[in-house]
Amino acid sequence: MHSSSPTHPCCLRSVPLPLASAAGGRIFEATAGNTGLALALVAARRGYRLTVVVPDKMSDEKIASLRSMGAEVVLTRSDVGKGHPEYYQDLAERLAREAQEETGEPAVFINQFANPANPAAHFEGTGPEIWQQMGGRVDAFVAGVGSGGTLAGVGAFLRARNPAVELVLADPDGSILAPLVKSGSCGAAGSWLVEGIGEDFVPSNLDLKIVSSAYTVSDAEAFAAARQLLLLEGVLAGGSAGALLAAALRYCREQTAPKRVVTIVCDAGSRYLSKQFNDHWMAENGLVPRAKTGDVRDLIARRHLEGEDIWANPELPVDQAIRREQGRGTALKTPSAREKAATALGSWAGRGGAQTRPPRA
Ligand SMILES: Cc1ncc(COP(=O)(O)O)c(C=O)c1O
Repeated sequence: MHSSSPTHPCCLRSVPLPLASAAGGRIFEATAGNTGLALALVAARRGYRLTVVVPDKMSDEKIASLRSMGAEVVLTRSDVGKGHPEYYQDLAERLAREAQEETGEPAVFINQFANPANPAAHFEGTGPEIWQQMGGRVDAFVAGVGSGGTLAGVGAFLRARNPAVELVLADPDGSILAPLVKSGSCGAAGSWLVEGIGEDFVPSNLDLKIVSSAYTVSDAEAFAAARQLLLLEGVLAGGSAGALLAAALRYCREQTAPKRVVTIVCDAGSRYLSKQFNDHWMAENGLVPRAKTGDVRDLIARRHLEGEDIWANPELPVDQAIRREQGRGTALKTPSAREKAATALGSWAGRGGAQTRPPRA
């Protein structure tokens, strides 16, 4: 059922309680997309007007889904941090304040990062569900942090049942959270392409002290894991799920005794067909390892000799050429491209994918 929902389970659960306090008027939220989709679902049903502020690195598919569900989408910069007026959370809060001042009608900034309804929903919903499905035998829970609601809520529930449960953080390379867990300090946040997890601040919904251990996962490793999950298990999952899986696998390999380890498929990979499942996008972002030639060819993202570019010859009618250009970037276009990608990314069981650092998002 979850896979046919336009939202995704983690975020949908965190929505009803905050909405209960919205009491009419408008709703504003800062979101990587999925909380916005969950809000859009509920807002449409209840007749609220919803504005979501989304960093511009998020996938076209998520933005199109938000619009299709009636949300007003304000795209903002993804290269600025907390405190900057164009930072998505600061902007959403300001827009809510201004809307209320201008119209006198109530406008609620949901603020999933500090709203206690978010971890509470995971404490009451996701945690018990995991516990029940695992028959009360859970040794470790691996999660990422966007708002921190999943890790805080599920973590509190599992620890209440079994204080020995390990809470393992999977964090994108560039986020400040894993360095904070590992060493208690961190430098400035970097950038990463995985959507929905990783932070440049610690959300107040999450006490990082609950985290037992942390793994830093590169974009390349996260996307490789998500692609392998599809090819090997038939599960079409997003990049954050790939990061969680990669971290869970590393955690499992380090254990000396069998353990029951739980992680989450945070959202559907169909939201990223133009990104992590698109060979061209992967290549353009330096996420597919390639043999170096030591000359200018190293700078060419789409190589003609490998059939990666779009070309037209004088015999091709113009409308066909346009159609060809518009159809560019179709995910995993040919069997040979698919095979090539699978081979290039390697087997996760062997080496956990590539480690290339992509350019700034
Ligand atoms: C794709 C994806 N993965 C992971 C998360 C992280 O969940 P949380 O906000 O509970 O930390 C989110 C949250 O929006 C998400 O959209």
